[in-house]
Amino acid sequence: MNIYHTVSGLRTEIRARRQGGETIGFVPTMGNLHEGHLQLVRLAKEQCDVVVVSIFVNPLQFGLNEDWEKYPRTFQNDAKKLEAEGCDFLFHPDENEIYPNGMADQTRVVVPTMTDILCGASRPGHFEGVTTVVSKLLHIVQPDTAIFGIKDYQQLAVIRRMVEDLCIPVAIVGAAIARDVDGLALSSRNGFLGEDERPKVKVLYEMLCWCRDQIEGGERDFTALETQAAKTLEKSGFRTDYVSIRNSKTLEPAAHDDSQLTILGAMFTKGARLIDNISMTLGEADASAEQTEVKK
Ligand code: PAJ
Repeated sequence: MNIYHTVSGLRTEIRARRQGGETIGFVPTMGNLHEGHLQLVRLAKEQCDVVVVSIFVNPLQFGLNEDWEKYPRTFQNDAKKLEAEGCDFLFHPDENEIYPNGMADQTRVVVPTMTDILCGASRPGHFEGVTTVVSKLLHIVQPDTAIFGIKDYQQLAVIRRMVEDLCIPVAIVGAAIARDVDGLALSSRNGFLGEDERPKVKVLYEMLCWCRDQIEGGERDFTALETQAAKTLEKSGFRTDYVSIRNSKTLEPAAHDDSQLTILGAMFTKGARLIDNISMTLGEADASAEQTEVKK
């Protein structure tokens, strides 16, 4: 596995491989890699000849009071894991390489829909930081396929929209959520959980499953379900950011006749903010569509 710190170094190598007729798969990350990330790398390997992974803790997507400084940086360990997975190129730029003109003067990419709701409501500017850096990374790597986790459902929806709106020639693939044995979605931020909190945080996933089961059982009072689920999170000792039942495609509040629903939740622990989601299909539509949807 080759490691690159500069845009030009990486591009030269990728160009050579592309000119040799090979396809390029790309997995952007912020590092502190766990099984969820590695699953994306495996998917990229299955689908493409050359796999590029980036590790960049993007300051532009963190708010002033958020955890950019304490975000775990474990580069040596990450590199070993990627080497073992057969990653070809690891791109590890510093802030200057990505924002040579400074962050304040950086040209931004703004997706006007879906970005000020749910996670965007409690993290103003977050998605602008994500779409800006992801569009830069897509321009740097120019992959045939880029893989993102369904774990960050809203992020994936916003990126799909950006790629569609800007005609970026890349297939976006969504990969299933990797979970711990108790159902907790794997996350780099799980390391911030206290020992006392760790056994309790599975309540987030449990509440999403509970909402899904209620809807499958015929319940259509979505607001009542959201309120009840939020109450249970609070009773377990966590501050609820939101529990929300949405149309899977538009992320608008779900209507009673929507067939593709996604139940999204976010809650605060003492040291972290955790997010999770579950998608479901009502009626006859294809239930597997959400898991591995590919879009060009
Ligand atoms: P990061 O949080 O490091 O996540 C990198 C990718 O891994 C994202 O696509 C995310 O959805 C996916 N991922 C994380 N946990 C997962 C899990 N448990 N199961 C499946 N996939 C999982 O998301 C980001 O970084 C950044 O916002 C980034 C896109 C790199 C832009 O800076």
